[in-house]
Amino acid sequence: MCGIIGILLQKKGLLSKPLGTAIKECLKNLEYRGYDSVGFAILSDNGLIIRKSKGKIDDVVSKLSFDEFDGVCGIGHTRWATHGRPSDTNAHPHTDCTGKVAVIHNGIIENYLEIKDLLIRRGHVFKSETDTEVIAHLIEEYKKLGFSPYDAFKKAASLLKGSYALSALDLDDAGKIFFARNTSPLIIGLTDKAKFLSSDIPAFLEYSRNIIVVQDDEVGYLSNDSVVIEKLVDKSYEFDKNPATAEVVNYASRIRYIDWSPEMARKGGYPHYMLKEIHEQPQAVSNTLISLMNELGDVIKLLSKAERVLIVGSGTSYHASFIGSLLLNELANIKSHAIISSEMRWFVNGVNSEDVVIAVSQSGETIDTLLAVREVKKRGALTLALTNIIDSALARESHLAMYTRAGPEIGVAATKTYTTQVVSLALIAVKLAEYLRTVPESKLSELSTELRELPNTLSSVISASEPKARALSSIVGTKHSMYFLGRGLGLPTSMEGALKLKEISYIHAESYPAGESKHGPIALVDDGFPVAFTILGDEVDMIFSNVEEMRARGAWTLAVMPKGFERISKHFNYVFELNRVAYELAPAVYIAPYQLLAYYTAISRGFDPDKPRNLAKTVTVV
Ligand code: F6R
Repeated sequence: MCGIIGILLQKKGLLSKPLGTAIKECLKNLEYRGYDSVGFAILSDNGLIIRKSKGKIDDVVSKLSFDEFDGVCGIGHTRWATHGRPSDTNAHPHTDCTGKVAVIHNGIIENYLEIKDLLIRRGHVFKSETDTEVIAHLIEEYKKLGFSPYDAFKKAASLLKGSYALSALDLDDAGKIFFARNTSPLIIGLTDKAKFLSSDIPAFLEYSRNIIVVQDDEVGYLSNDSVVIEKLVDKSYEFDKNPATAEVVNYASRIRYIDWSPEMARKGGYPHYMLKEIHEQPQAVSNTLISLMNELGDVIKLLSKAERVLIVGSGTSYHASFIGSLLLNELANIKSHAIISSEMRWFVNGVNSEDVVIAVSQSGETIDTLLAVREVKKRGALTLALTNIIDSALARESHLAMYTRAGPEIGVAATKTYTTQVVSLALIAVKLAEYLRTVPESKLSELSTELRELPNTLSSVISASEPKARALSSIVGTKHSMYFLGRGLGLPTSMEGALKLKEISYIHAESYPAGESKHGPIALVDDGFPVAFTILGDEVDMIFSNVEEMRARGAWTLAVMPKGFERISKHFNYVFELNRVAYELAPAVYIAPYQLLAYYTAISRGFDPDKPRNLAKTVTVV
C-alpha cells in the first residue's frame, strides 16, 4: 500500500552518496507499493529536515532536492492514499506540534479518530487528514508526560489498533530510528556500515542481503551500535500513564541471508519491470522446480491424508489456486475447491480438522489471505503457505511453508510469481498422483518429462509470442471491452489474461466459462467485439461451438491454442499458435501471450504498466 525506508549510517558518506540520494533510490525500488506522494526526513547537522510532495518521485525530484541533503539517519515514504486524498500536506512524514518528531507509516490505524479527538482536547493541532499524524502527536504527548522518546514511541505503538509498519525520528533522541509493526510488512537489513528498515527487501538489496523480518507487535530501534527489538505484551489500547509492557526479543536466530542479487531487482536493460519479469519466467520456473522437487515429502504426506483441500488466494494468486484445485481433482482424485480469500468467511463453517488449506500469496502479506488462514486454523484445519517471500506473515502463521523461487517481483501486475505458483501446484498434483497411484505410469512419465522441459517450452513461447503481441496491441488497444473465454484449465488462464489486460491497459476485460457465455454475455457481442479463447488441447472440439456462436454475431476472435489444429485455428481472426504442452501443464505456458498482449496494449495506450493507477502490489487492507 505504501513503502517505507529508514537508513542509519555508522558515519556520514559511507554509501558514497548523500543520504538523501540513497533514500530516493531506495524509495524508487519501493514505488510499486504506492506512488501518489513521496517524502523524507533527515537528521542533519541543522536539525530535522523534512521534504514532501504529492506526485511520483521522478516528477518531484527537483522540487524535493533529495541529493542536497546528507546526514547519518533518515526515513522516507512513498504513499498510496487511504485516509486523505493525495496532497502535499497528506504526504508523509507527519510531524507533532513541536516539529521534533517525524513519522512515516504503511497501513491503517483503525482507532485514529478516537485518538485524534483525545489529542485535540489536549491541545494538539493537526495539519493533515491522515490517520498517521496521530502517532506523531501521541509520541509528543507521552514525552510531555515524562516518557523518554523511545518509551513514548513504544507506548504510542501499543495504543494503535489496525495495521501498521511505522518508523519515526525524534530530535530529542537523534541517531535512532524507531520502528513498530503489526500486520504490514517490515524488514531490517544489516551491514557493517549501515542498517536499513523497509517495507520490502528490494529497497535495500544493493547494500544488504542479511535481513530480519520484524514480526507482529514488535517495536524497537536501530542505532549506531545496536538493533533492539521488543515484543509488546498485554496491549491495553488505553490512553493511560503506564509504560507499555514489552519483552526483549533475542533475534539472532532470525537473521536470514537472501540469495537475491541487486541485479534481480533492477530493470536490466528492459524498459519496464513487467517486461523483464515476463522474460524471467523460464528461470523462475526452473529455480522453483529445482528447489521444490526435494522439499515436498511432508507436503505430499499431509495432503494425501486430507479429506478435502481448499486453496485460497486473492487476484492473480486466486487464479493460480483455481488451477491447483482443478489439478488436484483431476490428477490426484482429491476433493479440492479454490476460494477467493476475502470470501472465505462465508465458507468457514464447513471447514474442519479433516481439511488442509493451501494459502497462495506472492507477498505472503495480503490481509484477506492471512485472515482466511486465521479463520480456518480456528476450525482445526492444517494450513500450508505457498509464497515468494521468506518468513512472510503467511509463512509464519501457517503450519508449513513452501516457497516459489521467482526472485523479487517489482511490477505491480504479477507475472513470474503467478507462473511459479501454477508450476508449484502442478508439481504437487503430479507428486500426489504418483504417491496415490491415481494416474497410469505412462501419464506420470509424460508429465514428469514435460515438467522438466517447462522452462525451455516457456522460453520459446515467450520469444514466439512477443512480436505477435506487439502487433496485436494496436488492434486491442482501440477496443473498449473484451471477453476472455475458456473451459476447464483454460478458464482460470482466461481469467488471468483478462485481469492482466484490465489492470494495466484499463480496457474492460471479462472472463467467462466458454459454455456459459451464451447464457448472458453474448448479448453484448456485435460487429468487431473482441473475444479471446484459451484452448489448451483437450477441450478443443467442445469449445469450437462457442467460437461459432461468437463469430455468428460478428465477434472479432482471437485464440491462444496449440499448433496442429488448423481445421479450427483457421476460423479465428488472430491466433497465437503455441508449442503443444500436456493439458495439465499448459496453463503455466499459455498465459505468456496474454501477459505480453496486456503489456504492449498498455504501452500502445500510453500507460505505465509497472504502476497501474489505484493498484498496489501488496494489499494489507480488507
Ligand atoms: C494482479 C495482482 C494482484 C495480486 C493480489 C494478491 O496482477 O498482482 O491481483 O495477485 O493482490 O497478492 P498476493 O499474491 O501478494 O497475495
